[in-house]
Amino acid sequence: MPLTISTLKEDENENRVALSPEVVSRFVKSGFQVLVEKGSGEKSYFPDQSYTDAGAKIVSRDQAISDSNIIAVVNRPDEKTLGSLKSGQLIIGLLNTLIDPDGMKKLADQGVTSLSFELLPRTVSRAQTMDALSSQSSVAGYKAALVAADTFDRYLPMMITAAGTAKPAKVLVLGTGVAGLQAIGTAKRLGAIVSGYDVRAASKGEVESLGATFLTSSVSATGEGGYARQLSPEEQQKQQDELAGFIKQNDIVITTAQVPGRKPPLLVTQKSVEEAQPGSIFVDLAASDLGGNVAGSKPNETVKTDNDVLIIGAPDLPSQMATSSSEMYSKNVQAVINDVVKDDKITIDVKDDVLSELTATYNGKIISTRLRKALNLPVEEEKKPSTSPDDKQNADKKPSDAANNKGGDQQ
Ligand code: NAI
Repeated sequence: MPLTISTLKEDENENRVALSPEVVSRFVKSGFQVLVEKGSGEKSYFPDQSYTDAGAKIVSRDQAISDSNIIAVVNRPDEKTLGSLKSGQLIIGLLNTLIDPDGMKKLADQGVTSLSFELLPRTVSRAQTMDALSSQSSVAGYKAALVAADTFDRYLPMMITAAGTAKPAKVLVLGTGVAGLQAIGTAKRLGAIVSGYDVRAASKGEVESLGATFLTSSVSATGEGGYARQLSPEEQQKQQDELAGFIKQNDIVITTAQVPGRKPPLLVTQKSVEEAQPGSIFVDLAASDLGGNVAGSKPNETVKTDNDVLIIGAPDLPSQMATSSSEMYSKNVQAVINDVVKDDKITIDVKDDVLSELTATYNGKIISTRLRKALNLPVEEEKKPSTSPDDKQNADKKPSDAANNKGGDQQ
């Protein structure tokens, strides 16, 4: 029996969709059946007809959930949807597992297999085609430079005209990971004078290769897996003081700094905002309800300060460029599904270096080391390779069966 993959319509704040018609067409050609919840692609400009043309069937949400073996989503669905998943079904998306580890425990008890992109070990080369954090950050960085340029009341490039010469704008990018580098490249192409700053010294070469200036930090904070670590309060103070001088000299500041599993670091203090020239722009990609990189930033809002500075809280830029984001995200989903489906069966080798981390839950167990740590579960010494039981058999099981079926799988 061929496996059935479905995709669901995201909530009203999300424009992206997890499967593009192009990827659907590839799945259909390789023998999958594909179900698409009605209207899923509309906000990415993929009408239902484009999915029908690609070989999918347009169905209700209930049918997309109940009749599929694999469900692809962008964001974590609502509790009702998660609660209705059956044992043996697989869900893949940005499930925010580390923000709500207890919710993942429930999925494990239901016998649901869940794979979540934020758990992907990104430095393993086989994982690169699956790296949704990178594909979406890349869109975010590009769009951040465009949003800044569009909002800024002056030219970005130097303009020599009969009516005079306009100075080029100065752009500073704080946090030069995937999004930051893309913001630098885009701002450079728009003609601005660009500099970048990061606490990971390794990013110096990448920033300079884009023709921007790297502002060396006296605080060095390379952490696990190539990510930055959280700074101590003393280091943070030192950094804020050091950055205040740089920020003042720039017209546009784009901030992207994140530390996995932590509140974003505050890089631009209230004092730095107050010292900025009128008309200056801050675009904060890390803006969140917990706070962002810029004092006073609010997610999805533009705040105008008393000194006429604009602070744009922009955590959702991939959703604002939904067609490109969805096309790339779908390819990441496709790469994962191709990796876990063998001979019309879902096969998760929990010893594999990529799947052992990408997999949040499988066969009633929490698999990912990071998620196990978040749930205070012992980190297993040995993860045994295994194949999921027959999907039909699983789909017929009630959640309680799955919970009872854990057998020797101690959590
Ligand atoms: P991220 O989204 O977690 O953070 C963005 C940037 O903010 C990072 O460059 C980080 O160093 C920086 N940052 C954090 N705290 C900071 C602070 N207090 N001050 C200044 N900057 C701060 O990072 P992203 O973009 O997801 O990538 C992080 C790392 O992962 C990079 O080393 C990147 O090269 C690596 N990576 C490797 C891949 C691969 O090998 N295939 C794929 C993707 C990322």
